[in-house]
Amino acid sequence: MEKIHVPKGTRDIGDPEIFIWYHVENIVREVAAHYGYSEIRTPFFEQTELFARGVGEATDIVQKEMYTFTDKGGRSITLRPEGTAPVMRSYLEQGLYVSNPRVKWFYMGPMFRYERPQAGRMRQFHQFGFETIGYQSPASDAEVILLANLIYQKIGLINLLLEINSLGCKSCKPSYIQAMRIYLKKYACDLCENCRTRIEINPLRVLDCKNESCQAVFHRADFPNIQDYLCAECATHQEQLIAILTHIGIQHVINPYLVRGLDYYVKTAFEIKTEELGAQNAIGGGGRYDNLSDVLGVQGIPGVGFAAGMERIILLLQKQVGQKAFNQKPLVYLAPLDHQGEKSLLQLSMRLDHLAIPFYLEFADKGIKYHLKNAQRMNIHHIVIVGEEECRNGAYSIKNLQTGEQKTIPQEALVSDLLGACQNVANT
Ligand code: HAM
Repeated sequence: MEKIHVPKGTRDIGDPEIFIWYHVENIVREVAAHYGYSEIRTPFFEQTELFARGVGEATDIVQKEMYTFTDKGGRSITLRPEGTAPVMRSYLEQGLYVSNPRVKWFYMGPMFRYERPQAGRMRQFHQFGFETIGYQSPASDAEVILLANLIYQKIGLINLLLEINSLGCKSCKPSYIQAMRIYLKKYACDLCENCRTRIEINPLRVLDCKNESCQAVFHRADFPNIQDYLCAECATHQEQLIAILTHIGIQHVINPYLVRGLDYYVKTAFEIKTEELGAQNAIGGGGRYDNLSDVLGVQGIPGVGFAAGMERIILLLQKQVGQKAFNQKPLVYLAPLDHQGEKSLLQLSMRLDHLAIPFYLEFADKGIKYHLKNAQRMNIHHIVIVGEEECRNGAYSIKNLQTGEQKTIPQEALVSDLLGACQNVANT
C-alpha cells in the first residue's frame, strides 16, 4: 500500500527542533506574565464571516488563502488565518466593553493560510501574539512594540530591523487611497497585471508587489508618500510613539511603503524584519486596529497588537545560535538486565522524577550490549545497570560512559552519587 504523507505546507515538529520551540514558548509566557498579559485560547476555526469582515474582503488572505468549508450543519467555517479578529470577536462576545473594557491578552497556536509553501512560509504555521484592547494612547502601541523587541532579544535573536509606518485613520486614509489610485492609473502600463486589477479594489496592496517594474513605479519622485497625508491626530499619534520608542532606546526606521496585508489597521503599522531568511523576511508584525470592532458590530473599541511567526523565529535561531545550544537529553540511562532489575528501576524512576533528574528507562528484553550502545547513541554519560546480582546485594552498578569507570554502590547511596555526577555534567 502507498505510504501517506504529511499534507503539503505542513510538517511534524519533534526532537531536537522541539527544544527550540519550548525555549521560545517559555520566554513568551514569562514576558507575558511579567507584563500582566493573560492567555486567551480561541477556537482553531470560526465563522467565515469573521475573517471576511474583520481581515477584509479585498485582502489576499480572504480572497485566496483561507481554508473554508461547509460543515455538516451547512455553516461556512474557516480555519483561522490569524488571531486578531478571533480575539476581538471573543472580547465583544463576552461583552467586556461594558464590564471590563481594558484587556491585555496573549495567544500561541497554529494558523492556516493556503499559500505557496517555501522555507518560512507554511500552510499550517504558528504564531504567538499580544493584543491590548481598550487602549488609545500611543504608549500602548509602544508597549506592544517593546514586548516584541524584548521577546526577540530574550530569545537570542540579533540583527533585526523594526519598520514603522502610519496608515492614517477613517478621516485621512481615504484621501491617501484616492491619491494612490490616481498615481497608479498614471503608471498603469508599467504595473504587472495583478497590480493593475488592484488599483480599484485595494491600491495599497500594490506596494507589497515584488515585481521589479512595479517597484520602479513606487520609487518615482511624484509617488504620494502616506506620511504627507496624515491628519493632525494621526501625525501626533505617530510623533508621540516615535518619541517614546526613542526614549526607551528601541531602534526603528519609518518606512512609508509598509502597508501590511490585513485591512483592519489604522494609524500605527509595524514589522520586524531580518535579512537572513531570504524572501520570507518578516518575523513579526502588527499595528493598531481601532475600527476592527466597528465591522464586527460594536462601535469604537480601540486595539493594538502584534503577532510573530514561530517557524521563522526557529529558522533564524537555528542560523544565528545553532540547534545544539537548545538540545536537551536525559542525564541517566536506566538499564535493567532482568525482570527483577526492571522492578527495581521502575521504583527508582519515581525517586529520580521527584528529584527532577531526567532519565531514560529501558527494558530487559534487550541485553547489556544494546544498552551500552544505545546510551552512547543518545549521548547519555551515566548508565545505571541492575541485574540479579545487584538486586541480591541491594546495590546498583553505575558506569560512566565518558571515562569507562564502573562501580557498584548501595541503593541508598545512588541518588547522592547521581546528583553529584549530574552536577559535574551540568558544569562541563
Ligand atoms: P501577519 O503579518 O499576517 O499579521 O502575520 C504575523 C507573522 O506571522 C508574520 O510576520 C510571519 O512571521 C508569520 N506568518 C504569516 N504567514 C505565515 C506563513 N504562511 N508561514 C509562516 N509564517 C507566517 C497578523 O497575522 C496579525 N494578526 C498581527 C497582529 C496582531 N496585528 C495586530 N495584532
